[in-house]
Amino acid sequence: MSADFAIGIHDLSVATTQYVLTHETLAAQNGTDVAKYHRGIGQRSMSVAAVDEDIVTMAAAAAAPIVARHAADRIRTIVFATETSVDQAKAAGIHVHSLLGLPSATRVVELKQACYSGTAALQFAIGLVHRDRSQQVLVIASDVSKYELGSPGEATQGAAAVAMLVSAEPALVRIEDPSGMFTADIMDFWRPNYRTTALVDGYESISAYLQAVEGVWKDYTEGGGRALDEFGAFCYHQPFTKMAYKAHRHLLHHCGRDVDEADVARAVEPTTTYNAVIGNSYTASMYVGLAALLDDADDLTDQAIGFLSYGSGSVAEFFAGTVVPGYRSHLRTDMHRDAIGRRQEIDYAKYREIHEHSFPVDGGDYPVPTETAGPYRFDGLSGHKRIYVPR
Ligand code: HMG
Repeated sequence: MSADFAIGIHDLSVATTQYVLTHETLAAQNGTDVAKYHRGIGQRSMSVAAVDEDIVTMAAAAAAPIVARHAADRIRTIVFATETSVDQAKAAGIHVHSLLGLPSATRVVELKQACYSGTAALQFAIGLVHRDRSQQVLVIASDVSKYELGSPGEATQGAAAVAMLVSAEPALVRIEDPSGMFTADIMDFWRPNYRTTALVDGYESISAYLQAVEGVWKDYTEGGGRALDEFGAFCYHQPFTKMAYKAHRHLLHHCGRDVDEADVARAVEPTTTYNAVIGNSYTASMYVGLAALLDDADDLTDQAIGFLSYGSGSVAEFFAGTVVPGYRSHLRTDMHRDAIGRRQEIDYAKYREIHEHSFPVDGGDYPVPTETAGPYRFDGLSGHKRIYVPR
């Protein structure tokens, strides 16, 4: 049953890391032609988390401006989506709840299904607002993507958090019914509990993603969704930005359309500008794409955006959103550009030091020096507990 009021994204805020590694630096180190990164996968640089940053500090940095703008009295739920969780039991969102001083009368939970769970969080939030339109839900997607040094996936690493306030009568994007869903049991990308880096069959993962594009579109159209031509833009999950182009071409082919590269670029390019310099932020990636689209594109008022969320393993969902009149006055464009622009460039040695860093697991005290210039930091480990503080 549809609600007789609109539900969707009322506010959207992106945060990323202290450091950035350029693909020129990576290419020079590993002897790769940088054009493979720039043109082949569509990546220019990757966000690198300092040792005092993680999914919690980025999430709190993304969510704080939302709480500052709207206050917390209507936020009854925080849904935190991640696949780089910091604990097997405690939801990372509880640390964010504490850092932001949110009321105790809040439910907080963490969700996982690779890169897809940000969308699960959004849909669950919509369900809660549907039940009680006076409530707002804080949806957070935050991830640090990490592959082995020297592996093909290394060039696609990145890190970011997106916080979204989901409410009735949203100011930015109304999310529509129906959704098209697709699940297939496949080992294209996964990370066993004992590993810090992901395992991936790169080519298999691309075909699995493209198979999911077909699956979600079939279910979406069978459910009475919009026609292809009704969409003004397509926001895809972007493990690397060229994947959005591959996915859109595949959708056009699948629908029996000719593929005009200028049309493909028009549909996806504005969603890729932030991800091209941030890298894969897993759960956050598609919503970082949305932020870039809203911040950079010409007026999108009343246009339909197609969202295709993919998470390896695999689960995917396609749904539509329409952009709300007046949305531009609610954007955080300057903040987003500043978060990306103020990152400090690091050399390969520093990147490698961070990549190889790990804490002893003996329960001792391991304070962490201040590196981040962000508003919250991971202060270290003590007695197996992670300590977070405002900076
Ligand atoms: P690779 O095998 O080293 O690269 O890594 P390649 O040889 O396939 O080249 C990549 C592209 O660069 C190709 O373009 C080349 O032609 C081009 P394409 O044919 O695909 O259009 N190229 C060049 N272009 C210009 N100048 C040159 C040049 N050389 C080559 N000199 C791979 C690619 C994707 C396998 C790797 O990055 C990888 O393993 N990535 C991780 C997995 C991944 O991102 N998969 C995507 C789908 S799965 C997904 O999205 C889920 C995920 O986000 C996880 C989750 O859900 O949690 C990953």
